Amino acid sequence: MINERYALQEVFTPTQPARANFVERKNVNEKLVKALVTPGKQIVVYGHSGCGKTTLLVNKLHQFYEDHIVTRCTNTMSFEQIMLNGFDQLNPFYNIEQVKSNNTKISSAISSEYALIKAQIGGEYSDSSETKMQRIIPPQLTVQTLARLLGEAKCCWVLEDFHKIARSEKTKLAQSMKLFMDMSDIYASLKIIAIGAVNTAREVIEYDAEMRNRVAEIQVPLMNAVELTEIVDKGQQLLNFSLRPSVKKSIVNYSNGLAAVCHQLCFNICFAAGITETLPERVMISDKELQQALEAYIEEASDTVKSAFDKALRQRKRQYENGKLILQALIKADISGARHSEILAEIRKKEPGYPPSNLTSYLHQLQTEKKGKLLRYDSASGKYSFADPIYRFFATAVLAQEPGSVVSTLQDNFIISLSDEMKKSLSEMIVKISKDIVTTYIQSTTSGSTSF
Ligand SMILES: Nc1ncnc2c1ncn2[C@@H]1O[C@H](COP(=O)(O)OP(=O)(O)OP(=O)(O)O)[C@@H](O)[C@H]1O
Ligand SMILES: [Mg+2]
Repeated sequence: MINERYALQEVFTPTQPARANFVERKNVNEKLVKALVTPGKQIVVYGHSGCGKTTLLVNKLHQFYEDHIVTRCTNTMSFEQIMLNGFDQLNPFYNIEQVKSNNTKISSAISSEYALIKAQIGGEYSDSSETKMQRIIPPQLTVQTLARLLGEAKCCWVLEDFHKIARSEKTKLAQSMKLFMDMSDIYASLKIIAIGAVNTAREVIEYDAEMRNRVAEIQVPLMNAVELTEIVDKGQQLLNFSLRPSVKKSIVNYSNGLAAVCHQLCFNICFAAGITETLPERVMISDKELQQALEAYIEEASDTVKSAFDKALRQRKRQYENGKLILQALIKADISGARHSEILAEIRKKEPGYPPSNLTSYLHQLQTEKKGKLLRYDSASGKYSFADPIYRFFATAVLAQEPGSVVSTLQDNFIISLSDEMKKSLSEMIVKISKDIVTTYIQSTTSGSTSF
């Protein structure tokens, strides 16, 4: 018996925080909730892109907080501009009509203070677009004032991508966190929650040693197989369809920790099967629909893949083709990736003198935006792997020297559920798309100016 109807895009959300199909993250939940309800505790949430930081926060804030505002940081934003963005976003809380309707008791004194500062700043309510951020911040809008305005509105402040801001501005952020902590005596809910990339945990503390113990640093790990399975199960339940157990297992295995990939595959499967909302009767997905879904998935990713490989494989002429050697070694490892020592051992089968320092340096570079962010490092397992599982197919198509290797990578990634016919058709597609990458790569290596 289905009680509620959901649209496909509410259930599988590859590009948005999951709500209807949110699964609890047991291993971080307790820590995050504890930090959220501890007055004065400031929070840094960090982890790999796509590990679920935003989703987790959105859902938990909803459960434990009256309200929050979000400021998205960019590398050109000064701390003053970040403050101004926070100030602007408080506008609805100090809008007289709105205050009346949601019954929040904000004193008239503080409301007029907001109005006064707003008048001095001038201009309309602005979003974070940079042209609008050129306004001058008046002396009255100090961090203390902003904290008071947030506190009165019982609102906490989320800073997305805080790792992007310049060093000097991070110092100011750390100092503001300290001030927020001190002011939590008056406003228990006052809090800054900074969301950052992996390896940025210590940044706030490094900038202000006094913040040690006062900031909860919460690492959101990649999703484990149990959590990913729950996304598929819950989705099947909400939309009323069924996948063969082997297909479900394959999706989980292939997603390799990334919930977005899991959502995308399930979305494509439902789309191919014509499921746009909760079905009145349970439907079983056929192999034909699965194949269509996977083809669409590969096709949709092709531009991103081409651009990532293009960045990764361009390099000035060097003694070793570092990137190529690393990617070739990683293809040999299983989907979970390989440790530094294992990659080194694999490369040395071909290049016995290959220096470990080269490996360290290029493993780092291949994780940067400049080099296409092809790889990721998981500190829990100590392994490097492809940042998106689809890169593994393409790396195989471009760099593996054995014929048939794309088919075996498909088999390895999707484990058991693909028929021979499906594997053949998918690998042909991958090889076809890879031709462009191979052409660019070969051109760039033979020109002599660019090679790994
Ligand atoms: N707990 C969860 N339950 C179900 N789906 C989730 C969960 N967490 C994340 N997802 C899904 O995973 C994808 C990535 O999540 P999210 O955007 O929260 O990651 P992120 O860590 O904030 O990434 P980025 O660093 O790129 O901002 C989204 O498609 C989201 O719907
Ligand atoms: Mg995010």
